[in-house]
Amino acid sequence: MSLLIRGGEIVTGSERYHADIFCGDERITRIDRAIEPPPGAEVIDASGKYVFPGFIDPHVHIYLPFMGAFAKDTYETASKAALVGGTTTMIEMVCPSRDMSAMEGFRLWCGHAEGQSACDYTFHMGVTRFDAQTPGELREIVANGITSFKVFLAYKGAFGVDDLELYRTLKLAKELGVIVTAHCENETLVAERQQELLAAGLTGPEQHHESRPPRVEAEGVHHLMTFAELTGARVYIVHLSCEEALREALAARARGVDVSIETLIQYLVLDKSDAERPDFAGAKFVMSPPLRDRRNQPVLWNGLHGGDIQTIATDHAPFDASGQKEMGRHDFTKIPNGIPSLEERVKLLFSHGVKAGKLDLQTFVNVASSNAAKLFGLFPRKGAIQVGADADLVVYDPNYRGTISAQTQMMNVDYSAFEGWPYEGRPEIVTVRGEVAARNGKFTGTIGRGQMLKRQPAPF
Ligand code: URP
Ligand code: ZN
Ligand code: ZN
Repeated sequence: MSLLIRGGEIVTGSERYHADIFCGDERITRIDRAIEPPPGAEVIDASGKYVFPGFIDPHVHIYLPFMGAFAKDTYETASKAALVGGTTTMIEMVCPSRDMSAMEGFRLWCGHAEGQSACDYTFHMGVTRFDAQTPGELREIVANGITSFKVFLAYKGAFGVDDLELYRTLKLAKELGVIVTAHCENETLVAERQQELLAAGLTGPEQHHESRPPRVEAEGVHHLMTFAELTGARVYIVHLSCEEALREALAARARGVDVSIETLIQYLVLDKSDAERPDFAGAKFVMSPPLRDRRNQPVLWNGLHGGDIQTIATDHAPFDASGQKEMGRHDFTKIPNGIPSLEERVKLLFSHGVKAGKLDLQTFVNVASSNAAKLFGLFPRKGAIQVGADADLVVYDPNYRGTISAQTQMMNVDYSAFEGWPYEGRPEIVTVRGEVAARNGKFTGTIGRGQMLKRQPAPF
């Protein structure tokens, strides 16, 4: 099947121009003015629209047993939500429990994805323990095309690694040419502060922030930076939320640490006051690191605009408000962490970034697509519009106006953190390797067509 996207304005991370795009055999085969479609080709009129490379969410959770609950999405529901929202590639975190070997974890996560996804995907391999058999298994996983690891400096007793495990993971990653993504919060401080708050009778969702204030995150970043500097590993800080943590990362970068930074759409548009909503409604807004004081938002927008921050993800972790978040009604430490946003990331970023004048179009494409592709070994197959790239394209109507609601979302979760929010602009047509997988906000793709993307290590 071939596809011609005609008359749109192509916007990539480095270029902006008007041309037609012809796609055949799942790839972009020609970019030119006034291409004539061969018989049988599907023709999409993109005049007055932007054509972006498919967006990449570099940090999602789909299969996630966590804090006594299972995240609600499956690859079927998550990939549909991703696609209607313009995301054509997802990178999921493999998060084995500490009693599982790396290989057992990898197989389990692959099993949940295989044959179930409508969009392409890959994994960051979570290293949640490091024992004698771990290096051999991780080498095998890397040989299977997974060239990024994930470590948690938080979540004591669950996914968190100790300092020796962290050091050994980073050394191995450096040797293998693998980037290490890291959740940075000081877990000892979190655990102790949680106990102090509970002992003082402070149990509501708003206390989540008090248990992990900005300094706790900044200390986690500082910690990772020390280990990265000593091992020479390439690292990527996931979900950075605040100025204090950003300063630690930038100071390390200035002294030569190879560190990239991700923030989340949630930190750019929601804030600490959301987790303070009355009658336990704040539980819907509990995630880690917590939503921060609003003063951090301009710092993060400027960090994106100026190139200090490389990517915007969602850390999509969908837990229902009823039945799941509810488990922490009398103890905030039991509220499953996460704010589902996979479907809304691109729309929110376009509305609150591009339309609001905080991000230019090129930066928008870079932080939501191309930079992740480059950092995680997917570029130029993904994140680019050029001959030979996968035909993952988003025809974007910049003038569409809509309203977000849980009633109409594809994500399998019972609330939206953005309920009733208006937005401007939306993905009108979304293609996955040349197939139209979403049209005007409706899923039109094929479950099972999504492929696991194998990547090559990049020695440094
Ligand atoms: O609150 C969050 N971030 N939930 C998902 C798990 C994680 O830390 O990435
Ligand atoms: Zn995390
Ligand atoms: Zn996460």
